[in-house]
Amino acid sequence: MTLNPAALDAYWMPFTANRQFKKAPRLLTGADGMYFRDDRDRQVLDGIAGLWCVNAGHNRPHIVQAIQAQAAELDFAPPFQMAHPKAFELAEQLVQLTPAGLNKVFFTNSGSESVDTALKMAIAYHRVRGEGSRTRLIGRERGYHGVNFGGISVGGMVANRKMFGTMLGGVDHIRHTHDPARNAYSVGQPAHGVELADDLERLVALHDASTIAAVIVEPIAGSTGVLIPPQGYLQRLRDICDKHGILLIFDEVITGFGRTGNPFGAQTFGVTPDLMTVAKGLTNGCVPMGAVFAQQKIYDTFMSGPEHLIEFFHGYTYSAHPLACAAALGTLKTYAEEGLLTRASALQGQFAEALHSLKGEPHVIDIRNMGLVGGIELSPLPGEPAKRAFNVFLDCWEQGVLIRTTGDTIALSPPLIIEPAQIDRLVDTIRTALRRVA
Ligand SMILES: Cc1ncc(COP(=O)(O)O)c(C=O)c1O
Repeated sequence: MTLNPAALDAYWMPFTANRQFKKAPRLLTGADGMYFRDDRDRQVLDGIAGLWCVNAGHNRPHIVQAIQAQAAELDFAPPFQMAHPKAFELAEQLVQLTPAGLNKVFFTNSGSESVDTALKMAIAYHRVRGEGSRTRLIGRERGYHGVNFGGISVGGMVANRKMFGTMLGGVDHIRHTHDPARNAYSVGQPAHGVELADDLERLVALHDASTIAAVIVEPIAGSTGVLIPPQGYLQRLRDICDKHGILLIFDEVITGFGRTGNPFGAQTFGVTPDLMTVAKGLTNGCVPMGAVFAQQKIYDTFMSGPEHLIEFFHGYTYSAHPLACAAALGTLKTYAEEGLLTRASALQGQFAEALHSLKGEPHVIDIRNMGLVGGIELSPLPGEPAKRAFNVFLDCWEQGVLIRTTGDTIALSPPLIIEPAQIDRLVDTIRTALRRVA
């Protein structure tokens, strides 16, 4: 199936160079296991789990069957003042996987919605417990927390913010952790930068802790180009939050569901947040779904007041949608049967070695890795930021491998079912591209 140019006209594509794409479309028509199929009937190796989400690989039988059966059994159930059994079953299974204490789940439909939900929970939590002055939200430079107004306000990627006015008031940012001068080519967590967490103390001194509700960070900043947290950094953030009564939110939309070698990044880094946002790998990308995990104390705080009244005025028509719950249950079954939530820890050594073998190739200025996440940073083409990495992306696509780029960084996050030979192919394809692009 190939579409003619006129058929491409109506669709305004998200986060896409629309005009460039429509001149030379890249159309995916099928997928199975580690591969997409395209409209030229080529097999394309998936180096990015679709978009950091297809962690169990494509077309997995438990998930496909669960969705099909659910559509025929119960297509929709209202989530306000009503529910269906699979929502509870899913929540129960999920809290078996989370770090101790994060044992309440609120369902959303995307990472962006999870982030805005968590921010609202944090502000409302302080208000319910009598500290209504804690409304300020702290994000981090270069952070990505989706595209809703809350998420772009605490986010720190300039292109996602500069077009959209003043966003939320009362938001500030701590410094990012990218420090190539000291940390370039670190394998795993970089050694330098724990002190960057102290930037939170600077904001406490400026605004006073009594005005700050929460700090949100990605354990690994993915969309900005794979920034691995320096050793000790997340723990120090945790300590500073505890000292000042500030909630710590981990945005685990990318790091959740096995990406770092444990179910969640919080476990890999040994730091437990108060709230944790997820999406993507929750349903293996098959049906839109997100979630926020909350500590018991946060849930309990809301469970005050008359019992017949709604405790948290928030939710979505499609929260805990039956198709999404079915897909998530099929996903968890697949993860469990194949040990996928810890498989990255077995593969990360080879993945790291393969990635770091690109050191010294043309244009490469840094390589970063953790679990099955990799970042390869290139020097930009003079005066044309992001173009060189995009040229590498196009070259890899022609070679039958799908990678992703952000700015001049190549970001890799293959499905967790990847085999060692496929890791080699992924990296060798990038090597070939680097040697021939401008
Ligand atoms: C850390 C993080 N938070 C939030 C989001 C937004 O998720 P969604 O695109 O599902 O809204 C993303 C998406 O990549 C993400 O990486």
